[in-house]
Parts: sequence; structure tokens; C-alpha cells
Amino acid sequence: MNKGRVLVTGAAGYIGSHTVVELTGAGYDVVGVDNFSNSSPQMLDGIRQITGSPLTFIEADCSDRNQLARVFEQYPDIRASIHFAAHKAVGESVQQPLKYFENNLTSLLNLIGLSTADGNSRGIVFSSSCTVYGEPDPENLPIKETAPVKPATSPYGRTKQMCEEILHDCTAACPGLKVIALRYFNPIGAHPSALIGEMPAGVPQNLVPYITQTAAGIRKELKIFGNDYPTPDGTCIRDYIYVVDLAKAHVAAVDRILGTTGSDRYEIFNLGTGTGLSVLELVNHFISATGVNLPYSFAPRRAGDIIKVWADPGKANRVLGWKADTPVDDVLRSAWEWEKKVRGIR
Ligand code: NAD
Ligand code: WQD
Repeated sequence: MNKGRVLVTGAAGYIGSHTVVELTGAGYDVVGVDNFSNSSPQMLDGIRQITGSPLTFIEADCSDRNQLARVFEQYPDIRASIHFAAHKAVGESVQQPLKYFENNLTSLLNLIGLSTADGNSRGIVFSSSCTVYGEPDPENLPIKETAPVKPATSPYGRTKQMCEEILHDCTAACPGLKVIALRYFNPIGAHPSALIGEMPAGVPQNLVPYITQTAAGIRKELKIFGNDYPTPDGTCIRDYIYVVDLAKAHVAAVDRILGTTGSDRYEIFNLGTGTGLSVLELVNHFISATGVNLPYSFAPRRAGDIIKVWADPGKANRVLGWKADTPVDDVLRSAWEWEKKVRGIR
């Protein structure tokens, strides 16, 4: 069964690699592109081992139009793209906003231009983020796609908002273009094979990689940022979604974009579990699921943190026929297995 060719930008990255695996399993011919600015070719070996098939891959920088154009020249039968390629470090984006605007906006502009240049109909699935909602008003929780987009709290978040607007306007103007923007909540975990997973450079900024590195003895202890928030246990609440469940939603989105159902050419979906977990709850799940000791202490609040946010994934459940249903203990075990594999821990 061959369902057509799909371009995946950022294919060697955390979510991209898991998505390439799921797309391949679903019968799509994937062309992966990455410039390895935040990943390594090793991840491609992991993908190939899991799928047991060769992977078509081109090293290219999406922010360089000529480089991306060569991909479309080589594969004019690309029917849809999933656009993961972007810089994503919130703190760095505050220090170096231009780096974020240049890469995240230019890469998308190039992709839209090349997707529409020959007059063929093509789809784009865009990696957006729950960050576009900012701090939701409590009455808006769980948060629906119709909730207001709040002024971004970082240049990174602003690029996601701007990219959504650019895609909206270009879709309205170009009848051949169909777009699905997916707003991810907090992706965590690794493939059950432990052959691919999250590989943060330097000190992890995100919770789960910090937990697994602490459990592996690389970090002394986890600092829980703030325990005086207005939440039941005082720590922040998020919607943690398994990366493999998230990857499967991309297959459903591509199926929809290439199918005949659905009349809107620009759609937005929240991708989350629908359940909020506090930092402390997640830490306790990790300890009980893995049986590993995890030293932690409470530290001051981290500037800019949202107090609580979790998704209403009802629209994705209904329209995409997709649901994130992997139990969090399994997800956390997968993250730990990946960390052990990377560190050579038995
Ligand atoms: P990642 O950094 O692991 O993957 C992104 C990949 O894109 C990397 O392999 C990087 O080398 C590549 N890349 C960056 N700029 C490129 C360019 N100009 N040309 C070619 N390749 C380029 O990040 P991820 O966690 O897999 O995130 C994927 C997407 O999802 C990003 O757009 C990110 O903003 C978005 N997102 C991530 C999260 C999260 O928490 N991980 C949450 C919401 C949204
Ligand atoms: C989760 C919770 C921290 C580390 C970020 C981006 C967002 C989106 C997802 C891309 C918070 C707490 C963390 C630590 C801690 N990415 N924490 N100690 O902040 O929800 O979202 O990733 O679009 O844009 O901002 O994720 O994993 O950093 O934090 O206590 O060492 O864990 O305070 O409450 P966040 P996170």
C-alpha cells in the first residue's frame, strides 16, 4: 500500500523522527530533511532500524530557499509536508530573537512558496504549540481551539503565532493549499524500542529530560520550580502527551489533508490528553513507574511559567479519529529506557 510522498522537515528531531516511523508504518513514502542544527544523523539510523526499511533523506537547510527547492525538484510528487524544522528553545529566543524569526519564519515561507509554486495541490501540517494560548483564563480550561490567542511571552511563541497567521492568509489566497496546524501540549517519552528519543543539547530545560538525567546521575537533583502556585499541590499543571501518540496524530492529519472529507482548508487541532498533571504528580509517577530514586527539592518559580494549562482534545478525537491514550507510567518508563540506552546504563 503506497499512500503517496510526504516531506518531513526536521525529520531527525525528537517529534520528527517518531513521526517518520509512524508515517512509514502507515504506508507513506517519506522524504526526510534536516540540517542537524539540533539533532544528529544517529537518529536516522534509529528510524531505519525501527522501520526495517531505507529512509530517503536529504541534508538541507529549510531557511535556504535554494536548498529546499532542490528537494522539490528531486521529488515533485510530494503531496504534503509536515513542517517540524524550527528552533524551539524559549529562553534562547529571548536572548537571540532574530535567530528565531529568521529560521522559523523563513523556513515556513520557503516551504509555502515551494509547495504552491507549480500550481499543484499540496498540504502542510504545521507544528504549533499550546504556547499560543499563553496563561489561559481558568474558565477556559480545558482549553479549546477557539480560546483566545494571547500576546506571546517569548519570540519563540511569537513565531508560532505568526506562522499560524501566515498559513491562514496563504491558504485563503491559494486554492491548492490545505493546512492543518497542530497545537502540541507537552510531548514526552521515547519510542518503545529505545532507538529514538529526545536528545537535548546541554542542560535540559524541559522537565522529563531533566528527570531522566537526574535519575541517571548526570544531574544532582531536580529542582521543582515553585510550590506556591494556586494549584492543589502548589506546583504547575501541564498536559503531558506521549510522543508516539503525537506522531500518530500527524498521520491522521496527513490522511485528512489528502482525503476528500473536510471542507475547511485551514484547520487547527489541539493535541493533548485532556488531563492535567502537576509537576509533583509527574515526579511521583516517574518514581513509582521506574522504581528509581529521584532526588528533588523545591526552588523558586521560573520566570514566565504558565500556572496551569491542559487541552480539550475533543476536536482532534472526533475529526481526526485520534486519541492520546498511552498510560503516563508507560510513557515515563519509555523515557527512562531511552536515557539508560543513551548512557549505557543496564
Ligand atoms: P527538535 O529540535 O528535536 O527538532 C527540530 C528539528 O529541526 C531538528 O532536528 C533540527 O536540526 C531541525 N531544524 C531546525 N531548523 C532547521 C532548518 N532551518 N532546516 C532544516 N532542519 C532544521 O524539536 P522537536 O521537539 O522535535 O520539535 C519539532 C517542532 O515541534 C518544532 O517546530 C517545535 O517548535 C514544535 N513544538 C515542540 C514542542 C516540544 O515541547 N518539543 C512543543 C510544541 C511545539
Ligand atoms: C514543565 C513544568 C516547569 C524543568 C515548554 C515551552 C512550550 C512548549 C513545551 C514548544 C513547568 C517545571 C521544568 C525543571 C521544573 N514547547 N520544571 N523543573 O514550560 O510547559 O513548555 O515546552 O512549543 O512552548 O515553553 O515545559 O518541560 O519546561 O516545564 O520544575 O527542571 O515543569 O516549571 O511547570 P513548559 P517544561
